[in-house]
Amino acid sequence: MPYIITIATQKGGVGKTTTTVNMAAGLAELGKKVFVIDADAQANTSKILLQQMELRETRNVPEVLSDPNGGLFSAAACPTNYPNIMIVPNHIKCLLWEEQVRGSVDGILGFKRIFHKDEALQEYDYIVLDTPPNLGVMINNALMISNYVIIPVPIPDQFALDGFATFVSHIGKIRNQNTELKLLGVLLTKYDARATTYKNNRVIIENTFKSQRIPMFESVIRTNVDIDRAHQKRKTIFELDKKKPGAQDYLAFSREVIRMCDGQKEA
Ligand SMILES: Nc1ncnc2c1ncn2[C@@H]1O[C@H](COP(=O)(O)OP(=O)(O)OP(=O)(O)O)[C@@H](O)[C@H]1O
Ligand SMILES: [Mg+2]
Repeated sequence: MPYIITIATQKGGVGKTTTTVNMAAGLAELGKKVFVIDADAQANTSKILLQQMELRETRNVPEVLSDPNGGLFSAAACPTNYPNIMIVPNHIKCLLWEEQVRGSVDGILGFKRIFHKDEALQEYDYIVLDTPPNLGVMINNALMISNYVIIPVPIPDQFALDGFATFVSHIGKIRNQNTELKLLGVLLTKYDARATTYKNNRVIIENTFKSQRIPMFESVIRTNVDIDRAHQKRKTIFELDKKKPGAQDYLAFSREVIRMCDGQKEA
């Protein structure tokens, strides 16, 4: 059974896509078989991982969801530069699908309807979903099929912290419907260990989350220009250069994810 992990929070620009693509790559580097679903119509994850962009014209998330003949995610999977990562890309027309199903059963259970019958997904170790910055149809659909959610929080972004409680309360509401769902942890991103304010913020955040029993990853993702460089080249940070700090951070984080998922299964 794959672990199903959604990367989410309603705040934009916090590192959801960066974490999705580089965690998928990190897990793949560690020998795991990964299936990525790009649940964001912006399709940024698709633009980095997808090997042939033209494939997403016919194979994409809204196409699967609205297929009258019962589409499957596994049948729409496209290759990436990694032999052990496959992706179902997204497309701007997903916004239309979201509009059509809002308020209907598929508005929350569309993914679940497909997952029930998509047996080929069982071959994967991890299914990772990137989501858009809102609390809408795609986030709800993703959380309804997930075991875990990871929330990236950029250290210097006060607004991301301000919106945090809203998102945690949203997870609580979804948990009433999907009792499997757990917050695997908060991942601190865009961290600069040299800046005193960042160090102080980190201590404040860690203490606050600890007192509220909100799990945090030991790994943090340092701020670095290579992340942007990798995005510009439509590559993961590992494809850019495995020795870069960004690759080291995402590898350590991916190791921690594996340890935590396996640990939670045994507990
Ligand atoms: N560790 C980092 N160091 C420097 N820049 C980073 C880092 N992580 C992410 N960024 C940059 O921050 C910006 C936002 O990142 P990303 O697209 O991953 O966020 P997002 O949460 O997916 O955004 P959206 O909500 O729009 O989908 C990008 O320009 C990205 O290159
Ligand atoms: Mg994104």
